[in-house]
Amino acid sequence: MENILNMPKHVTIIMDGNGRWAQSRGKERIFGHYEGAESVRACVEYAVEHKIPYLSLFAFSEENWNRPQAEVSELMSLMAKSIFDEMSTFARYNVRFMVLGNRAHLSDSLNRDIDMAMEKTASNTGLTLIVFLSYSGKWDIEQAAVKFAKAGAPEGRFQEFLVTSAIPDPDLLIRTSGEQRISNYLLWQCAYTEFYFTPVLWPDFRKDEFEAALIEYSNRQRRFGKTAEQLQNEDQQTK
Ligand code: FPP
Repeated sequence: MENILNMPKHVTIIMDGNGRWAQSRGKERIFGHYEGAESVRACVEYAVEHKIPYLSLFAFSEENWNRPQAEVSELMSLMAKSIFDEMSTFARYNVRFMVLGNRAHLSDSLNRDIDMAMEKTASNTGLTLIVFLSYSGKWDIEQAAVKFAKAGAPEGRFQEFLVTSAIPDPDLLIRTSGEQRISNYLLWQCAYTEFYFTPVLWPDFRKDEFEAALIEYSNRQRRFGKTAEQLQNEDQQTK
């Protein structure tokens, strides 16, 4: 493995290209989602092995409810199956599992499975794995605005009302399949996130591809609005 000097604290992934992966093999789209679940396992393993504290995955957007009904229900079954299949992995690797999104749109049965997995893993102290389900960035900002107004909270405390309030903003966002857009994902939270786009389709995105993204990230300079000289001076002062 390459020696990556600067590991991100939070990596988030827009997993794209499952449908195209399956169709290019003359198979149903769901076949690509099942293979995509294997890429999820590989990336979770990589994050555990390299002690990345937070890994989050955009698994289903609010807009994805508009897909054909059959694909939506197959995806929801795959989510429930993955939760059950991975409970032993979560225990073995000390993974804390979370689902964030508009859970009012999920079925009662899936919500029960999610609650069970979140409760059972709540005190795990290794990787925090967050799956964004029925999530959209605009929805998140809107629901936060309503709560913020109701609470009469002061300026500067808005982010405490977003569903992501308990997790740090992503340092690195990866999107697979060649698309270069944010698709209503973490709109507020990605203000200073580094973006990495790759043509690799999600089912082909395994440990080597994950590592390539991390190497590229570690070679970038994040300035957060400051000049390169300011950062150099700060760096010298801490040495
Ligand atoms: C995007 O590909 C992918 C999705 C909408 C679903 C992602 C879900 C999984 C990888 C299943 C497993 C997830 C977990 C968390 C266990 P697409 O269907 O939009 O592909 P396309 O752009 O080629 O049509």
